Parts: sequence; structure tokens; C-alpha cells
Amino acid sequence: MNYYKVSGDYHRTIYIWLLVMTSMVLGIIVIGGLTRLTDSGLSMTDWRPLLGIIPPLNNSSWQKVFEMYQLTPEFKIVNRNMSLEEFKYIFWWEWFHRVFARMIGIVFILPLIYFIIKKQLNYYLCQRLAVVFIFGLFQAFVGWWMVKSGLSENPYVSPYRLTFHLLNALIIFSMLLWIAMDYKYEIKINFFSKPFTADFYIFVSILLIFITIASGGFMAGTNSGQSFNTFPLMNGKIIPDDYHMEDYGIYNIFENTVAINFNHRWISIFAFFYIIFICFKFIKFNDEYISSTLVYLIIFFLTLQVILGIITLLSNVYLPLASMHQTNSILLLSTLLISYHQYKYRKVKHE
Ligand code: HEM
Repeated sequence: MNYYKVSGDYHRTIYIWLLVMTSMVLGIIVIGGLTRLTDSGLSMTDWRPLLGIIPPLNNSSWQKVFEMYQLTPEFKIVNRNMSLEEFKYIFWWEWFHRVFARMIGIVFILPLIYFIIKKQLNYYLCQRLAVVFIFGLFQAFVGWWMVKSGLSENPYVSPYRLTFHLLNALIIFSMLLWIAMDYKYEIKINFFSKPFTADFYIFVSILLIFITIASGGFMAGTNSGQSFNTFPLMNGKIIPDDYHMEDYGIYNIFENTVAINFNHRWISIFAFFYIIFICFKFIKFNDEYISSTLVYLIIFFLTLQVILGIITLLSNVYLPLASMHQTNSILLLSTLLISYHQYKYRKVKHE
């Protein structure tokens, strides 16, 4: 019996539903990045999971939420001269981010119930979607936990929590994409690979991109991109002074902006050369398990990612470039995941 056999009247509809959710998660990561880049993330000082969807509807409620914001350290230390109009701008960004998150929840739950009633979801898909649901709920808590870190004495969000929030979002995104691909081919492909097989090298590429993204999260969370706006040198040196500060110890990696800036640029360059090398191997040996279009797409998104990273840095983190840099990192990750899945699928079918 094929436990993953799912063909039925709704097969195509469910596949599209899975892809819509995946795209919506991509969308919210981009919106989350813009919320951070516009410094809007701390504008809503409370978290009401249901009623939070209703924005202030008249002048007095705007005044009320603005007064609550005026009690925050961000207002007192960073935005003391902010007007109500300026506040509305940052409020709408954060509000949209939170409403979009709820919309994903609705797009997840309502069709899920419908497909269950119609007996169109098999047990394994339900199990996997339950895991995604738990990660989604957890993400909402992490989001609030992250915002809370910027509402205490320090007017900035904790870079640890911000990076955790970003990584958890990418895990949800990757799980949904993987589930959609498995569903399409009615198969269950194991995400892990045996060391030193050809598919293992793609697995390592995905891992390297995750590590690079984590280091990018610290770059963004500590505003490290706003210093050392030259490439490849930092203050005229490859390895800048203060890369290692005695007081920080191991925390240099996460808290010393010099080390964070250095690490992100060189981890990503290492990932770049590793992935390019793997891609050329696939092209050279004309590997039948991976389509050449996918290999060229990886090279394209990877090269674009590095170029966008460098110009984001040189421009002192110009908002549209920084947002494109973040968005493209998800496109790169998606292409790697799709290639990895295809590789393993074709291999299984061949055996
Ligand atoms: C494989 C290559 C790369 C990946 C996957 C990657 C990924 C990322 C990610 C995910 C962020 C965080 C975005 C956010 O949370 O808003 C980031 C931030 C950043 N990256 Fe990269 N990056 C790569 C290469 C580079 C390179 C080569 C440079 C420059 C030399 C660079 C410079 C920056 C800068 C300046 C930021 C901070 C932007 C901000 O403050 O919003 N990146 N990167």
C-alpha cells in the first residue's frame, strides 16, 4: 500500500492550497523585513490575538495608541520628536504585518477543515500540517517575545530573538514547500541525506544558506551593515582591528558589530564558491537527476544575492536594496530546496 497516495478529486486544489500558503509565508517574511527596515516593529505596544486586527478608527483611539507608544523607550530615546502622522506610518506597517499573519492562519485553518470534512486529506498530510501549525503558533509567540525585548529599557529588539524569528519563519516556509512537492509527486522524500552522496552536497548548500541567513539576521538586528561600507576591505584591512574583543569572548560572533559584519560577508562568499563549485560539477557531468534549468537558476539567484549584498552594504543599507537582498535570499533557498527534492525524487524513481 502506498501511504502517500493522495490522488482524488481535490488533488490539484490541495496542491494549489499548499502553494498559496507557501507563497503567503514568503510574503510575510518580506513584509516583516520591511517592517524592520522602516523601524516600525515596536509601534504596537500590546498583543491581542483576536481584537488586534481592528486598527484605531477615530482620532481619540489614535491618540490613545500614540500615548501608549510614547511610554516606550523607543519613543523616549529615539523618536522623541515624532508626530502623530509619522507614528501612523510606522503603526500601519506593523499592523499589516500582524494582519497578514492572521490571514495565513485563516487560509490554513478554513480549507483544512473543509478538506477534512470532505475526507480528502490522508493521515500523513494531516500529521505534517499539524507540525506546521505548531511551528506557526510558536512563531506568533516568538514574534511577541521579540517585540517585548524592545519595549523594556533598551529601545532595540534583541538581535537573538529577531534572528530566531527569521529562522523559524524560514523553517515554516521550507516545510510547506517540501510538503507541497511531496504531495505533488505522491511520495515522501527524506529531507536528510547520507554523507558524501551527490544529494548530500545539495543538502550542505541548503545548510550553508541557512547559516548565512542566520548571520544576516544578526547583521540586520545589530545594524552592522551601517558600518564598514566598503568591500572587500574593512577599514583598509581584510581582517579589521577589533574583530576579537577580549570582553566579549564567544559573544563576539553575536554582539561585536565588527565581527558580525566580517562574518556575514565571508561566510556568504564561502557559501557562494561552494555552491558554484557544486553547480559546475552537475553541469560538467550532465547529471540526469537534476535539470540544467534549475542549476542555472541557482547560479543566477546566488550571484544576484551576493551582488545585492555588496551594493546594500556600499549604499549604507538603502531600504529597497536591503529588502531585495532579503527577498532574493528566500528565492535562492526555494530554488535549492526544489532542486534537492527533484534530485532525490528522480533518484528514488530510478532505483
Ligand atoms: C549567499 C549570500 C547571502 C545571503 C543568503 C544573505 C542573506 C542575508 C539575510 C537573510 C539578511 C537579513 C535580512 C533581514 O533580516 O532583513 C542579510 C543582511 C545583510 N547582508 Fe546578506 N546575504 C548574503 C550575502 C551578502 C554579502 C556578500 C554582503 C556584502 C558583502 C551582504 C550584506 C548584507 C548586509 C549589509 C545586510 C544588512 C541589511 C540590513 O540591515 O537590512 N550579504 N543578508
